[in-house]
Amino acid sequence: MKFYITTPIYYVNDLPHLGHVYTNVAADTLARYKRLSGFDVFFLTGTDEHGQKMERQAAKEGIRPQELADRVVVKFKELWKRLDISNDDFIRTTESRHIQGATKLFEKIYRGGGINKGRYQGWYCTPCESYWSEREFDKDQECPSCRRPCEWVEEESYFFRMSTYQEKILRYIEEDPAFIQPGSRRTEILNLIKEGLRDLSISRSSFSWGIPVPIDPKGGVIYVWFEALINYLTGCGFGADDERFERYWPADIQIIGKDILRFHAIIWPTMLMAAGLSPPKKIFAHGWWMVKGRKMSKSLGNMVNPHQLIDEFGQDALRYFLLREVPFGLDGDFSKEALINRINADLANDLGNLVSRILGMLQLYTDSKIPHPRGSEDGFQDIFLKIPMEVNGFMEELVFNQVLIRIWDLVHSTNEYIDQKAPWRLERDDPYLSTILYTLSETLRYIALLIFPFMPNTARKMWDQLGIEESIENQGLTSLTRWGVIKPGTRTVRGEPLFPRIG
Ligand code: MSP
Repeated sequence: MKFYITTPIYYVNDLPHLGHVYTNVAADTLARYKRLSGFDVFFLTGTDEHGQKMERQAAKEGIRPQELADRVVVKFKELWKRLDISNDDFIRTTESRHIQGATKLFEKIYRGGGINKGRYQGWYCTPCESYWSEREFDKDQECPSCRRPCEWVEEESYFFRMSTYQEKILRYIEEDPAFIQPGSRRTEILNLIKEGLRDLSISRSSFSWGIPVPIDPKGGVIYVWFEALINYLTGCGFGADDERFERYWPADIQIIGKDILRFHAIIWPTMLMAAGLSPPKKIFAHGWWMVKGRKMSKSLGNMVNPHQLIDEFGQDALRYFLLREVPFGLDGDFSKEALINRINADLANDLGNLVSRILGMLQLYTDSKIPHPRGSEDGFQDIFLKIPMEVNGFMEELVFNQVLIRIWDLVHSTNEYIDQKAPWRLERDDPYLSTILYTLSETLRYIALLIFPFMPNTARKMWDQLGIEESIENQGLTSLTRWGVIKPGTRTVRGEPLFPRIG
């Protein structure tokens, strides 16, 4: 079974901040989980490189927009690598596969009668590359999204006849409650549609950094949002590799931040309908990372640099924090204190301590060899055996923090189990000691595999310490339906503490 997952393509006019990292960390966790579940996963991310904002920024720096994109895209790729993001492809909208595919889609919608010519007169926010109408302003002509001033635009333009899809998209969303998640966002979108959809201006002629409108040599360039959304098609083969496209489209899930939900929940599916293609199966809009109650963003200048956090705390601590601290879908406030508290309590104290206790006991009592269990362990394994089902339910709904809470329940229970059984009180040749130590080794196998999607590097370290030869990536989650998989006789290796306490 295939599973196609996408994140938005990132603007490359500036460096990534912590808010940007969130979408890809969440998507990566889901992608890794699905791979362990046996799916043929295709995880796409990339960069959004056209538009007026790029053209202006490049002009300010005295370089060509392509140079700006080439310079900044490297920063994104570096960051994804440092964060262990396992995307299967990376699409840049300046690549020819995208340009060809976007051109083809434009033509397809045009031929189907979905595009006509007109004149645009209205407000435009260049940093957000968004059109706004008077009725959407709270104050003067301030962009409702980034709070910067909008500009008046008047130009000949091609229009996507989005208004003609009003009823169709409304029915589509109403009939499929799973299409837009979480539910509160779905209601918001339904209300917006009911207020009425207007045709969308999809070409710009006052600047040139974009894909030329295919049907008219004087038609300017395609509006950057209209063009960028098409990456989800061109990234999986549209217009270039039919077999790949047939295999993966429609996307199974598109994860985005709530600031760009309108584009994804209204414009995008209506474009697909106009082109005779299926909409994605699900769009999930997560909340924002804020600092002291304000959205982390360039316009507010309150960006947190993810590299600094990775340098100081490691990529896994950061990944864990982002998905554990705030329910996915809600906003969260970032502070370094909160991050340090999580690291000390959950990672150093609970998990790190458990791993080092178990590996230490194996070293001491069995010379670092997993013993043969002598008998079974009074049902302690039952809480482990039922976990895959529970976790699966939460993962399907993207309730990441609950998955982690459940895994940490196991960590706590295992720490308590050790305290209760007090293996240090048993004689070295007591067969029950072997049973306890075998049980404890199995608990680590479970925990390592369960945390792998969230903290791949830590899980790998645990796996290596357990001495299991087969790579953790090749383990199926089905191996969690069986207790007693780890082979007696396996040599364990006590390693460095996974998460040193932060003072
Ligand atoms: N280029 C468009 C997307 C086009 S997709 C066809 C774009 N890019 S972005 O770089 O501005 O944003 C990328 C992602 O980062 C989005 O999912 C956005 O919601 C997310 N975030 C940006 N700031 C954020 C926070 N402060 N908090 C959480 N996510 C935020 O939009």
